[in-house]
Amino acid sequence: MEVAILPTPADCGRVVADILAAAVTGRPAAQRTTLGLATGSSPVLAYQELIRRHRDEGLSFAGVRVVLLDEYVGLPDGHPESYRSVIRRELTSHVDIADSDVHAPDGTHPDPLVAAQEYELRIRDAGPVAVQLLGIGANGHIGFNEPGSSLSSVTRVKTLTEETRRDNARFFERPEDVPRHVITQGLGTISRARHLLLTATGTRKAAAVAAAVEGPLTASCPASVLQLHPHATVVVDEEAGAELERADYYRYTLQHKLSHQPY
Ligand code: F6R
Repeated sequence: MEVAILPTPADCGRVVADILAAAVTGRPAAQRTTLGLATGSSPVLAYQELIRRHRDEGLSFAGVRVVLLDEYVGLPDGHPESYRSVIRRELTSHVDIADSDVHAPDGTHPDPLVAAQEYELRIRDAGPVAVQLLGIGANGHIGFNEPGSSLSSVTRVKTLTEETRRDNARFFERPEDVPRHVITQGLGTISRARHLLLTATGTRKAAAVAAAVEGPLTASCPASVLQLHPHATVVVDEEAGAELERADYYRYTLQHKLSHQPY
């Protein structure tokens, strides 16, 4: 696992944007690429940077297909906090990615259990995900795989912890409006991506980042599943990296990266 501890959230946004941009450039025009994207606060600066590069530098997403990590169950179609609406608002409507190329679990399906199975199949059909971007919950969740999730789980319905509902209440008018259920890619589903890219900023994430990177591999910290992945990158700012015991070594490694060594 490579850990990049960078001075500021803006630096993290630039590096995350570099990695996502590299995945969509330099391939034959006809070749499709699947990007796995996250919602929430963590990816916002990276998305703003990608939009800027699209506008100012001609970065194109032609041929890119997006699969989202998760979706709330029960929010009506078009609800501003449904993750399909969020990714449109934060990224896809500002670049050349059509709505029809953005896939998310169907949180409006009359049977969420069926919707979860259908989404797992859709991700398999979309081919390997080139890069899966991830945020991390203060309790160590990725996607909405709350602590206790099987490390080999597939897409399914999960019940949010009250902690996660409280964390996400900031996006809703009233705390009780945060749905109790979600459909999330499983940890096994996420792990099939070729490259896992986790980003976190701020002190609130420091303990979870340290547990994921340096703690035991355990369902109690779902993000620790990154330790099993052959290509995982963690991009954090100083605050989110503050509890990493090997921080000096990660900095040293980054300083001495070979000039042609990619993330
Ligand atoms: C969002 C998701 C969640 C968030 C996590 C962190 O699609 O799957 O795992 O990445 O809850 O949220 P923020 O970035 O808002 O702190």
